[in-house]
Amino acid sequence: MFAKVNSLGLFGLNAFSVDVEIETSKGTPAFDIVGLADTVVKESRERIRSALRANGIAFPLARVIVNLAPADTKKSGSVHDLAIFVALLCVTGQINEDISKSAFIGEVSLNGDVRPINGVLPMVLLAKREGFENVFVPAENAYEASVVEGINVYGVDNAGSLIKHFAREAVILPQKPYEIKPEERFDTLDFADVKGQQAAKKALEYAAAGGHNVLMIGSPGSGKSMLAKRLTTILPAMTFEESIETTNVHSVSGLVNKEAPLVTKRPFRSPHHTISSAGLAGGGTVPRPGEISLAHNGLLFLDELAEFDRRTLEILRQPLEDRQVTISRASGTVTYPCSFMLVAAMNPCPCGYYGHPTRKCICGSKQVASYLSKISGPLLDRFDIHVEVPPVEFDHISSTAKEESSEQIRERVQAAREIQLKRFKGTSVTCNARITPDMLADVCVMTDRARDTLKNVFEKMGLSARAYDRILKVARTIADMNGSEVIDKAHIAQAVQFRSLDRKYWGERP
Ligand SMILES: Nc1ncnc2c1ncn2[C@@H]1O[C@H](COP(=O)(O)OP(=O)(O)O)[C@@H](O)[C@H]1O
Ligand SMILES: [Mg+2]
Ligand SMILES: [Zn+2]
Repeated sequence: MFAKVNSLGLFGLNAFSVDVEIETSKGTPAFDIVGLADTVVKESRERIRSALRANGIAFPLARVIVNLAPADTKKSGSVHDLAIFVALLCVTGQINEDISKSAFIGEVSLNGDVRPINGVLPMVLLAKREGFENVFVPAENAYEASVVEGINVYGVDNAGSLIKHFAREAVILPQKPYEIKPEERFDTLDFADVKGQQAAKKALEYAAAGGHNVLMIGSPGSGKSMLAKRLTTILPAMTFEESIETTNVHSVSGLVNKEAPLVTKRPFRSPHHTISSAGLAGGGTVPRPGEISLAHNGLLFLDELAEFDRRTLEILRQPLEDRQVTISRASGTVTYPCSFMLVAAMNPCPCGYYGHPTRKCICGSKQVASYLSKISGPLLDRFDIHVEVPPVEFDHISSTAKEESSEQIRERVQAAREIQLKRFKGTSVTCNARITPDMLADVCVMTDRARDTLKNVFEKMGLSARAYDRILKVARTIADMNGSEVIDKAHIAQAVQFRSLDRKYWGERP
């Protein structure tokens, strides 16, 4: 007897289809699984035998061979359990109908329960692309799978339910199509909570509008963390494509929210400074996404930047340029997207009060220098906007004046993004921060006065080519926010201002 059942596999974010072929022949009873199956797949033999027994089905008294094809793809995990179980039902005569348009994924436990798995969304997206009409997934993953339109999703809680389904004793109803919930944007945080700090707020508004990276420097308690946590509340709404991309990464990591599987709010990831390189960039035997990928299409906040391990920080440099990260391990190479806005906060020195208007810094100049030197020049260069967050003044903190709300700020941000979307129509660029070098001259047209100013600064400050590009992109955003098509002198001056803090703290760098 021979049967073939469709399953799906996943490596990194790449889903692939797997054929589960089963053959029974006369001979000494045996049960083998072949096709580059790792130890986890071999263990599924025991689980499947047991699940059959739990459902009162006798294991065939025959030589049973299961082949997972294609053989050259490394399959891991227990995702194929359900398909192997179904294959056995086919050869034992429990399933007689045509299931060639259906795919099966899920881990089966010893008592037959179908357990949830990671990465359901990218696998079901593939099933749809491959033209499958039905996909059977663990019941707990069915809601997540229903995000994919145009394929029937069946949630299976127990292998026994599947037997009843095919016997027409109790059919499993397909999952209802996913309804995107109206976004609950403004949870509890709002910019209105932050008194004063107009300059810092304006800087964050520009950053949000153009997708620029920001570094905030200031003494403890000045409100840096408070400001950063509110930054997602002024970012433009996610597009559906962005939601799918981000949910894919979260799905692979097993971080999908059961109540609202589709990520519709831009992620805010804030890893602790003790995080390892693998935790930040991704890693593990079968490489898993790191914080930078979990922050895809959202925000990565590194609080207390100088406390991070210097080598860990250096790992950020390439992904920041490429917007994707490639991780190589013995098991293979995977690439995860990591298009995120980097926001960091730090104290200016170990005691925190260097440059403070009233309190005295107790650190020696060597200590200050060594503290700041943890942030390398190339990393510093990748922050387009540097902003000093001074201690909030008493008049501000005690004022009862109403501060601008996140929603009001977000309206301006959204308007600026729309200008950008129009500008970059037909390209893969989505915001000013991502303008490619070859586009720069075309989209960042300057007035003569602006050009003179920039030339002047460039020579006087000895800017790097990267800094030059970044200043121009920030100036583009400032011009957009001010409704100007060309970049004028004032826009350049403001953008340069945002790069002057590194000189105050880090001094002249070669
Ligand atoms: N501008 C401000 N308006 C209102 N509260 C503030 C402001 N700045 C600081 N605070 C208060 O001080 C606390 C500490 O701020 P925090 O963001 O943790 O500072 P930092 O990260 O710079 O050390 C905040 O939780 C908030 O209660
Ligand atoms: Mg803080
Ligand atoms: Zn100090």
